[in-house]
Amino acid sequence: MARYQPRDKFYWRARDRGLPSRAAFKLDELLARHRLIRPGARVIDLGCAPGGWLAVLADAVGPAGRVVGIDLAAVRIAAPNVIALAGDLRDAAIQAEAIARLGGPADLVTSDLSPKLSGIAERDQARGAELLIAALDFARVALRPGGAMVAKAFMGGAFDEIVAAFGPAFARVEPTRTRASRPGSAELYLLATGHRARPG
Ligand SMILES: C[S@@+](CC[C@H](N)C(=O)[O-])C[C@H]1O[C@@H](n2cnc3c(N)ncnc32)[C@H](O)[C@@H]1O
Repeated sequence: MARYQPRDKFYWRARDRGLPSRAAFKLDELLARHRLIRPGARVIDLGCAPGGWLAVLADAVGPAGRVVGIDLAAVRIAAPNVIALAGDLRDAAIQAEAIARLGGPADLVTSDLSPKLSGIAERDQARGAELLIAALDFARVALRPGGAMVAKAFMGGAFDEIVAAFGPAFARVEPTRTRASRPGSAELYLLATGHRARPG
């Protein structure tokens, strides 16, 4: 079994690059590999606390772009092009506020959502899947046609169901891993591009 190393090479690489966390390093890798953001882009980040992905996104969209994060936990962030809202992403009022603060349809929705883990694998997987489907439902409202979504998912019972839910919403849905994911981890990312707006 792979030995857990809290400070492996990706931890140090993240530090060298001035990235706030290992989580930030993973997103940085996905954005670079798939060219998901251009300067001036509008992005919504779901499950944004404590702010590692927000820092990467703020840098990628630049001063003309805008990033709006949502998390149950409050996030203090100093970047002028980032707003973090405290609340549940499933709450209609928070969703409406995020869309309003973004100032237009999103080019990209990112989700690093994780439920509070109970330690009971089946229950945790089911709650993770529920959150991801809620994130997808919101992304369908927030994204422009042709927009993209990057979402953390976990291999497990509900994985096929999740991929099937993404299918009709995007032209392409591709599961991908990052080099910075811990060896042996069940974590992977769904990369969905070519958002198809709902008719009507
Ligand atoms: C792994 S952390 C995100 C780390 C973040 N991407 C970063 O780089 O700092 C997962 C987050 O999902 C949030 N979360 C879980 N359920 C949520 C919900 N229903 N609405 C909003 N955020 C939620 C948790 O509060 C937690 O902060």
